[in-house]
Amino acid sequence: MFITFEGPEGCGKSTHSTRLKSYLEGKGERVLLTREPGGTQVGKALRDLLLDRTSVLDDTTEIYLFAADRSEHVSKIILPALKEGKTVISDRFIDSTIAYQIGGRRLPEDLVRYLNMVSSKGTLPDLTILLDVSPEIGLKRATRNRQADRFEQEVVDFHRRVRARYLAIAAAEPERVKVIETDDKDIDQVQSLIREIVDAKR
Ligand code: TYD
Repeated sequence: MFITFEGPEGCGKSTHSTRLKSYLEGKGERVLLTREPGGTQVGKALRDLLLDRTSVLDDTTEIYLFAADRSEHVSKIILPALKEGKTVISDRFIDSTIAYQIGGRRLPEDLVRYLNMVSSKGTLPDLTILLDVSPEIGLKRATRNRQADRFEQEVVDFHRRVRARYLAIAAAEPERVKVIETDDKDIDQVQSLIREIVDAKR
């Protein structure tokens, strides 16, 4: 099974994907937890370029770097692990590109969808958990203990467009994408909802 976590800045993806991994391992499953950008050796260098707040990237350059990161990630990490029968959990995947590069950056939809298809080699998640959060709360959470990265320092309107695009993806694909509203819930409440959703899918 291939599960992805998605959501705007500060939605809690990293915490919840790590906890879900422990839960599934507790049930005897072999689980690979990975992330984008930065799931491979080349990807780590791309991640630094993409997130460094001093990088100045053209929007088209930016999407090519995300696509390069994903090509490496899918061919070297995700597909081999799925072939070995592991459950793969990825912190971000193709829906991030739809939400950030179409919603946030306003790149042409057909360019983004084409690059997603090529870079993912047509690999689609079986389940996507969308952790929704308002930009006001999410940005505060994300930058509590560190400086904002290149995306986090974008204007609030950018983050509103990202969020709206995520919600539009979920509305269009309700079978695959399950939304959990996190503004009004603590970590344990969100994690137990995630476990219910994952258990129901198996
Ligand atoms: P993120 O994984 O949220 O970082 P952190 O571990 O610091 O929480 O950072 C990745 C950033 O890259 C995030 O701002 C979203 C952005 N992004 C895109 O714009 N497009 C993409 O296709 C992907 C995978 C990420």
